Amino acid sequence: MDKYCVLGNPVEHSKSPWIHARFAQLTGQELEYGKRLVPLDGFVPGLRAFRAEGGKGCNVTVPFKFEAAPLATTLTARARLAQACNTLRFDGDSEVFADNTDGIGLVSDIQRNAGVAIAGRELLLIGAGGAAAGVLGPLIEAMPRRIVVTNRTPDKAQSLVQRHARLASGFGVELSASPLGGVGGPFDVIVNATASSLNGAAVPVADGVLKPGALAVDMMYGPAADGFMAWARAQGAVPRDGLGMLVEQAAEAFLVFRGVRPPSGQVLAELRASLA
Ligand code: ATR
Repeated sequence: MDKYCVLGNPVEHSKSPWIHARFAQLTGQELEYGKRLVPLDGFVPGLRAFRAEGGKGCNVTVPFKFEAAPLATTLTARARLAQACNTLRFDGDSEVFADNTDGIGLVSDIQRNAGVAIAGRELLLIGAGGAAAGVLGPLIEAMPRRIVVTNRTPDKAQSLVQRHARLASGFGVELSASPLGGVGGPFDVIVNATASSLNGAAVPVADGVLKPGALAVDMMYGPAADGFMAWARAQGAVPRDGLGMLVEQAAEAFLVFRGVRPPSGQVLAELRASLA
């Protein structure tokens, strides 16, 4: 049976094995999908060992997404812009096809699952670390009118914006960086790609940046998203956690692995029910 896994540290609580097993059942694909804890300084040997055991591909999670990109023999354009990968497919003896499906997963969740169109809208992306870098390209390709990227360390927002400037102008999107205190707005869609809720810190942008009924998405789920979701709800916005993005990025990875698109909406509903 073809073997896949998610490599990370920590990886114990990963939902990816459950999600991919369910995708496989629903699409009639024969595969097994496990999880591998690799030491913080042992990503490349861990990956090599998995491939040597017959692994056909893997997902990569924190903190190894940046280490994965240089291993690619073929890197998708979106992974190159993100400078990070979450999906590796092993082709032949030595080829590595590498992609980043986080951004397309987020966009699919916003548009298909939450039912909010991005085209022509005003969008705020909070954060400029790996999580934000992974999603900015696909957000631009969904053609909002404007994206503001804001971050505690403004230089990082600036350099993320610079890296995406050409893509944004090609899609006619106004893209700018802003310090946390001056983001302007109000916005139709806000995406929190910071670790602020995880640290128990307050949401780092001012009240009033959300339009009434705006969609406010935290890329995290479970207790890590609670602070941001409560903040959004209190302002009349529609809060959304990152569970849908998790399932949708997995669906895109499954497509890379197997060439088959799984029924992600059904699996998201099942996962939500199982966690309720
Ligand atoms: P990830 O891969 O999850 O994005 P990261 O690269 O360490 O992790 O980035 C974490 C993000 O959360 C950054 O945007 C960080 O801001 P800085 O670039 O200024 O460090 C942001 N962040 C973390 N804790 C925060 C807090 N308490 N308030 C505001 N932003 C925070």
